[in-house]
Amino acid sequence: MKRIEFHDREEEIKEIKNILEREPSLITFIYGPINSGKTELMSYAVKQLPEDYAIFRINLRGRFIRGYEEFLDVLFDIDEERRERNAKEYAKAILKDLKLIGGIPIPLNLFERMFERKERSKDVFKYIESFMEEISQKYVPVLIVDELQVIGDVKIDELLIYKLFNFFIRLTKELHLCHVFAVSSDSLFIEEIYSEAMLQGRCRYLLVDDFDYNNTMDFLENYEFSDKEKGDAWYHCGGKPVYLVELINHKLGGGNTKEKAEELLKVRITQLRDLLDELNYVRPVVEIAGEQYRVEKEKVIEILKLFMDRERVDFELHRPAKHFLVKKNILFVDPMGGEVRPQSRLDLLAIRELVKV
Ligand SMILES: Nc1ncnc2c1ncn2[C@@H]1O[C@H](COP(=O)(O)OP(=O)(O)OP(=O)(O)O)[C@@H](O)[C@H]1O
Ligand SMILES: [Mg+2]
Repeated sequence: MKRIEFHDREEEIKEIKNILEREPSLITFIYGPINSGKTELMSYAVKQLPEDYAIFRINLRGRFIRGYEEFLDVLFDIDEERRERNAKEYAKAILKDLKLIGGIPIPLNLFERMFERKERSKDVFKYIESFMEEISQKYVPVLIVDELQVIGDVKIDELLIYKLFNFFIRLTKELHLCHVFAVSSDSLFIEEIYSEAMLQGRCRYLLVDDFDYNNTMDFLENYEFSDKEKGDAWYHCGGKPVYLVELINHKLGGGNTKEKAEELLKVRITQLRDLLDELNYVRPVVEIAGEQYRVEKEKVIEILKLFMDRERVDFELHRPAKHFLVKKNILFVDPMGGEVRPQSRLDLLAIRELVKV
């Protein structure tokens, strides 16, 4: 089977490398519409780094975190072979062969001790700080947390996410010890972060968007798409990498691009129609700043109709309906650009099909 090569992202990689060459000073939030290639980009970018970078990657996707124990489980990579007195000794001992690691390494005995202690999260952060301090004698440590929104609502005494942000600020802005990248495809979460006072001036945002037109054409060119096939792909799927990959695989298997693209659209229309139909019977509740609001179908349709003749609209829309559409992954909010748009070209076409008069 032919493997699909990683495509482009030169600009983004350049920016990430630039960040990594400087002293750590801000938290970097990587955001963008769903399936735009954020995770893929980070994996690819860190593989390009020289030997003296130590990468710690934590992916929270699909992890169920309700409290402290589960949080420790995703954060750490337990080393059952070693027993050490403390983080420093341990870091020294494993310094020789560090490169790309799942979680933060910790020997079993220290992990177990952390479980039993009272001032729990304090211990965790203290361990990581000492560990990074030692590692940074020889390496540039980089911490990547993917799907950070998973712990958005987790409480350990208070909201865990605030403790974590405080700790990230300490690692970057105060100690300049470790680079921190937080990746998220949840635009409601990014929107909240964007207006979070605690993070003002302490983080930067990097948008990883779908490919633009030229880039999409180049990508498809590598797999010998004809002009007609490229046109069909762009019309239906825009530059969404995940769909383009699907079209490429379909073509490599001898399939017809237009048929596949139309099939993808049909599926999306059906999903959206079903969602709107459900609103005839139920009025879902969304929570905004701790208050609950009911979602009215008319308001939802009102927003969708705005996309009949344009691809993006202003930020200020009826809040509960907007919130609902974002939560359902139909719309994407870009607080930096101050705009709202469908998550993909397929979504835009499906919306237009369903609200046309
Ligand atoms: N630069 C690229 N070149 C080739 N294929 C890519 C590229 N970026 C993404 N893809 C394809 O798109 C798929 C989705 O990418 P990825 O999972 O990185 O998106 P994401 O933005 O992290 O998604 P989510 O919003 O679900 O977190 C990948 O599995 C890969 O097949
Ligand atoms: Mg991802």
